Amino acid sequence: MNTSCPSCHRRDFLRLATLGSATLFTTAGAFAEALTLTPPATEGPFYPDKMPLDTDNDLIVVSDRITPAVGAITHLSGHVFDIKGRPIPNALVEIWQCDSNGVYLHTGSSDKNKDKQDKDFQGYGRFLTDRKGRYYFRTIKPAPYPGRTPHIHFAISKGNKRILTTQMYVKGDPGNPADGILKQITDPNQLASVMIDLRPIKESHAGDLQARFDIVVGWTPEDHH
Ligand SMILES: [Fe+2]
Repeated sequence: MNTSCPSCHRRDFLRLATLGSATLFTTAGAFAEALTLTPPATEGPFYPDKMPLDTDNDLIVVSDRITPAVGAITHLSGHVFDIKGRPIPNALVEIWQCDSNGVYLHTGSSDKNKDKQDKDFQGYGRFLTDRKGRYYFRTIKPAPYPGRTPHIHFAISKGNKRILTTQMYVKGDPGNPADGILKQITDPNQLASVMIDLRPIKESHAGDLQARFDIVVGWTPEDHH
């Protein structure tokens, strides 16, 4: 897969600078935590088989459609760190997830569920980390679909090379203990690293949530040469 993305380079609809990043990026002890490698997970069958026209980091609004996606708006941010805890700038972060009805942006899912699909949900987005290794997405709280607990797929690439494929989960979701993919993570620290708190934002009257998922990859800039 070619993950270079000239068309989206720094054209992200939502920019980190506009976030009032104090709350989103407040971090206590990020460095210490960063040394737990984020566990890899299967890409699964639903990485988009055809890229949508809109691939920005706002999954709530698709191009010029008027109505937003159905779901609890979630401001999802974090860093990409290397194994030594150093931020990785210019890493491509891709996410994909099903809509509130369990439909993915993949013909294997959407062809069967045309009537159910939320056409206002972008389903996929990408973002290049900034100088401090930060990324940001606006998306929905992940929804369950048959056989899986709620999750968001992540792929991290540097240059054209995929350096991590993983999934993040909603901490405390009742579906977690029975999830077969989640059970493959046996290290308790690694398990904790993908269990993410979705917390209400106090100042949000609309009930928006925020989530912070820092990602640690077993890659260093030295690997690049
Ligand atoms: Fe999935």
